[in-house]
Amino acid sequence: MKRRVAILISGRGSNMTALIEAAKAQDFPAEIVVVIANKADAAGLAKARDSGVATVTIESKPFGKDRAGFEAKLQSALDDYRVDLICLGGFMRLFTTAFVQRWHGRMLNIHPSLLPSFPGLDPHGQALRAGVKISGATVHFVIPETDAGPIVMQGAIAVRDDDTAETLAARVLEIEHRIYPDALRLVASGAVDLEGDVCRTTADASCGAGLISPAVLRPKAQK
Ligand code: GAR
Repeated sequence: MKRRVAILISGRGSNMTALIEAAKAQDFPAEIVVVIANKADAAGLAKARDSGVATVTIESKPFGKDRAGFEAKLQSALDDYRVDLICLGGFMRLFTTAFVQRWHGRMLNIHPSLLPSFPGLDPHGQALRAGVKISGATVHFVIPETDAGPIVMQGAIAVRDDDTAETLAARVLEIEHRIYPDALRLVASGAVDLEGDVCRTTADASCGAGLISPAVLRPKAQK
């Protein structure tokens, strides 16, 4: 039985699209049953509808600081669609601890940095200011702390000296679109176990050559 997934978005929904595309494969262990936005103008809503996925909008703004009130409506939509797993895709609203605990081990998020480095806002600016040579993206289970929780999968790219937050974001986004569907595949197929703060998987973690950045060009050996 495929796991029933809701994707929560606030904006353009490019990760949502990557998940919807991946879930079209017959052997994918999850189906995207609904996309829920907390903003009526989220561009991803139209893309979801074009893909034939049901959409629900629950405006969060009128709820102000009443997070529990917003979450009651959200939970009722999740119940309507009999959702097993939630994927956050650029969902820019914090949850109460009660909601996070209710979905413990069943709610994933993607963040565009190699967590635990650079959580929160402007992760690419943070990475550039720190001068890291490798950055990337992380799919993790959601816990009450923002952009933290057991890590399911990470993907890395080299940071270039001439990168701006925009160019870095664009290359990291390509990685995001690769790892989010793969991470969901792992979780939905039961290949992942939570052991406290750590997520273990039966999947293959040998990726061949490591990523070293910057690469040093060595002169060819003298004859
Ligand atoms: C993505 O880069 C995602 O990693 C980030 O928001 C963007 C949403 O783009 N999420 C966070 O920063 C969470 N802290 P998308 O709407 O095109 O998927």
